[in-house]
Amino acid sequence: MSDLRSSTMPAFDVTVVGELNLDLILYGLPRELEPERELLADKLSLTLGSSSAIFAHNLSALGSKVGFISRIGDDSLGQIALDRLSEGGVDVSKVRRVPGQTKTGLTVILTRPTNRNILTYPGTMFEMCFEDLDLDYLASGKHFHLSSYFLHRKLRPRIEELFRHMKERGLTTSLDTNDDPDDLWEGDCREVLRYVDVFMPNAREAMKIAGVADVAAAVARLADLVPVLAVKLGPEGAMAISRGVKLNEPRRKVDAVDPVGAGDSFDAGFLHEFVRGADLAACLSAGNLAGAFSTTRPGGTEAFRDRAHLDDFYRRNGVRR
Ligand SMILES: Nc1ncnc2c1ncn2[C@@H]1O[C@H](COP(=O)(O)OP(=O)(O)OP(=O)(O)O)[C@@H](O)[C@H]1O
Ligand SMILES: [Mg+2]
Repeated sequence: MSDLRSSTMPAFDVTVVGELNLDLILYGLPRELEPERELLADKLSLTLGSSSAIFAHNLSALGSKVGFISRIGDDSLGQIALDRLSEGGVDVSKVRRVPGQTKTGLTVILTRPTNRNILTYPGTMFEMCFEDLDLDYLASGKHFHLSSYFLHRKLRPRIEELFRHMKERGLTTSLDTNDDPDDLWEGDCREVLRYVDVFMPNAREAMKIAGVADVAAAVARLADLVPVLAVKLGPEGAMAISRGVKLNEPRRKVDAVDPVGAGDSFDAGFLHEFVRGADLAACLSAGNLAGAFSTTRPGGTEAFRDRAHLDDFYRRNGVRR
């Protein structure tokens, strides 16, 4: 009897499909990037990047069991990204490493006194396809999540089918589209929402996807399409709407040093509670807390990688983990 029960128990709390790459961040560059000059940075950080991987890493740090599928190249940067995710406790056994011309993606962030340049080589993230995915593995979780809808160029025509399949297999689902680099916001993304339980855009993305220029109107429109809508509002906190209940929560006050990955961390905090059956207010509060915590260190995963910092922050905020 116990054997039977354990064989039908979900292997993961959350399974994730998404992109996996590193962020190379240079700090302290001069204001002007003069061509052909040797320009000096004063600090360098090579850290886990990509929305999906940051989400998976930080969700695992919070205590969820996470399985992750992606496609990387057969190169050393891909290996470092994979190792980082694996060190964070995420199961990466189904990540596909594909030899060939296309390398693992990389984002280079040039930090200058007043602004940043963000340069991305998409690499394998544009090439992940439906055949790269092990559907039985993905369906062995309680919940399925996909981030960065518009970066999955090859997979995109079948993302709706992927979500439908996960719903048919009995999982709850969530989607964070993030930005559309082409700024087109085509309607296929709204079709996918039919199979999404928790939709997690920021305010700008909500307006673009709803096709209106006003946050309140966008929220009203999108809340009719999904059981749970969580909208991230940056330093103003976040809101969540479900079945006619609308909650707003201001941001948690922290010494924020870097907003990179705050949205992915919000998703991690929110869904960590959601898969445990918490109510809307508890999910929203956990999202806000994880988003705020993420900003306390540069990069998307550095705060969560520091176990003592994580434990101390959550204890000071009255959360027992
Ligand atoms: N300065 C801040 N102080 C406290 N909390 C913050 C701050 N900035 C962001 N947060 C928290 O992080 C959440 C997500 O941030 P944001 O709205 O920037 O998401 P996003 O635009 O999706 O970001 P990302 O670039 O990671 O995709 C916010 O809803 C809030 O809870
Ligand atoms: Mg985001």
